[in-house]
Amino acid sequence: MEMLCRSRRLRTNEAIRELSRETRISKQSLIYPMFVREGSGIKEEIPSLYNQYHYSPDTICEAIEELVKVGITKILLFGIPAHKDEIGSSAWQDDGAVQQAIREIKKNFPQVYCITDVCMCEYTSHGHCGVLCETTTVDNDKTLELLAKTALSHVHAGADMVAPSDMMDGRVLAIRKALDSEGYTHIPIMAYSAKYASAFYGPFRDAAGSAPSFGDRRSYQMDIHNRKEALKEIDSDVLEGADIVMVKPALSYLDIIYQASQRTNLPLAAYSVSGEYAMIEAAAKADLVDRDRIIGETAVSIFRAGADILITYHAKEIARLIDQGKIG
Ligand code: PBG
Repeated sequence: MEMLCRSRRLRTNEAIRELSRETRISKQSLIYPMFVREGSGIKEEIPSLYNQYHYSPDTICEAIEELVKVGITKILLFGIPAHKDEIGSSAWQDDGAVQQAIREIKKNFPQVYCITDVCMCEYTSHGHCGVLCETTTVDNDKTLELLAKTALSHVHAGADMVAPSDMMDGRVLAIRKALDSEGYTHIPIMAYSAKYASAFYGPFRDAAGSAPSFGDRRSYQMDIHNRKEALKEIDSDVLEGADIVMVKPALSYLDIIYQASQRTNLPLAAYSVSGEYAMIEAAAKADLVDRDRIIGETAVSIFRAGADILITYHAKEIARLIDQGKIG
């Protein structure tokens, strides 16, 4: 039979499949999110996030050691304070959980790149991502000051990069100005640019005790129906000086990741969030899917869509799959 194009030729064996592979995954592109809680001697599994733990600043290095062993050296830190109030004042304390943890990590593992999540919702008594107001739930401009203060305190403690996740307008510029005013011109900002008001954050909010006590986050996080708005958010963060932009969640937003990757020349991060992790783990536990293959396929799909960086609770598993040659 005469046939000029035989696509199967490039699928004949592993060698040719490797050569013709379009998407490659590297441990270097992975970021592992971690939760640090004020206190001491803490290592507690998070009920909503199987195999993910709360650590205190004095125990977190045990987990970092494990991570480094499998070749993951970038983390995203979330703090859980002992004390919450209306304005989230624990967020910028020099002896806060995140600030202490960074110091510990930098002392023991200087090669580990520490990114901090900058937001108020873990620190406010009402669980919103900023200072309350009557008209739009959160007072945008008052919140900017607190975010800038928080980012600065993380950087004082040794953070390598800050990642604002609050979705206030103008936060990237406010943080950039605050960092520059103290000479931290070399510290990059990774902006949670297109962050949707998603149900996929459920397990995280249990883990961080950050579910809003009233209302929801729809006056600041994005409407799930929108696509162009994501590009607008990315454009404005770029103009404000973001160094890396992010789409979040990942799996239900691969269209946005793809479009964002076409749009911006900045590195693009995707955050595979707690609900995505929890769904895979639950399905695997129920023996409904092959855990390793689902983790691998999910990660590949996010990179294939155009992400350069993947933030994932499965970072250690993905590292193992790479080592075993199952993905790559
Ligand atoms: C803080 C923040 C959230 C997540 C990252 N930063 C929660 C939220 O917006 O409610 C979610 C991460 C995850 O679900 O894994 N604003």
